[in-house]
Amino acid sequence: MLLAQITDTHIKAGHRLAYGLVDTAAFLEATVAHLNRFQPTIDAVIISGDLVDGGQPEEYTALRELLSGLKLPFFAIPGNHDERGNFLAAFADQPYLAGCEDFAHYTVEDYPLRLIGLDTTLPGKPYGWLCEERLNWLDETLAAQPERPTFVFQHHPPFETGVTFMDVQNLRNGAEEIAVLAKHRQVRHVACGHVHRPVETTIEGIGFSIGPNAAHSVILDLREKPEPSFTLEPPAIRLFWVSDDGNLVSHLSFVGSFDGPHPFYEPDGSLKD
Ligand SMILES: [Fe+2]
Repeated sequence: MLLAQITDTHIKAGHRLAYGLVDTAAFLEATVAHLNRFQPTIDAVIISGDLVDGGQPEEYTALRELLSGLKLPFFAIPGNHDERGNFLAAFADQPYLAGCEDFAHYTVEDYPLRLIGLDTTLPGKPYGWLCEERLNWLDETLAAQPERPTFVFQHHPPFETGVTFMDVQNLRNGAEEIAVLAKHRQVRHVACGHVHRPVETTIEGIGFSIGPNAAHSVILDLREKPEPSFTLEPPAIRLFWVSDDGNLVSHLSFVGSFDGPHPFYEPDGSLKD
C-alpha cells in the first residue's frame, strides 16, 4: 500500500498570494500533477489541515477547483487556518465526513491499513487541543479493532520539534493523546502537519512524523528565540510505503523536475565507470 501526505496548502481566493509572496495555488497545482503521475499509483492521499488560509467559503471553492484535478482518493482533516463549519460544507460530498458534526474526525476502513483522521482544532486558537470527548472517541475507536494496523493523521503534532515559535502552538495536551495511543499497540504511525517542515520522532514506540511543505516552509532555526519566518525550500510530499508484512516506511518526494534519472548500468549489465 502506498499512501501520500500533503499538508498546509493554505489556498487563498482569487489566486491571492499567501503572506503577499507565496503562490500557494500554483504550488498545489504542481503537487497534484506530481501525485497523479507518481508510479506506482498512489492508493490514497491524506491532507493534514490548513487546506485554506483564512477559513472562508470562497477559499474552499478555490481549493476544490484545484483538487478537482487530483485523480486519487483523498481524505482531509482541518487545521487551525480552517474553519470547521466551512470545511465540512465544502467537503459535504465526501462520504467519510458524513455524520461529522461537532468534530471532523473519522475512520477509513477501505485499506489494509486502517486510517483515523483526527480533528485537533480549537476554534479561534492557533494551537491544538483534544477535549475529553475527542480523546474518548479516539480510545474507543482504537479499542474497536485492536488487531488492525492503524495509521492516525492530524494537524497539530503532540510533541515539541525544537522550532520554538511553532512549538508554542502544537497540541497543548499532546501527552494525553500519547497516553491513549500507547494503550493500543496496533498504532503504526501518527502523521501530522502544521510545522511546514519534515520532522520525525519516536515516542512510546510509536513513529510520529510531520509532513514537509509543498509551498512555504517554516525556517529551520533551532535557537531559543528565532524570528518567526518562512523560506521557499524545495517543495515536497511525504510517502508512506507499507510492506506486505505490514512494516511502514516513510519517504520524501520532492515536487519538481530534476536532472535524471541516469542509469547506473551500461546496456551490457556492467556498472558505469
Ligand atoms: Fe499551516
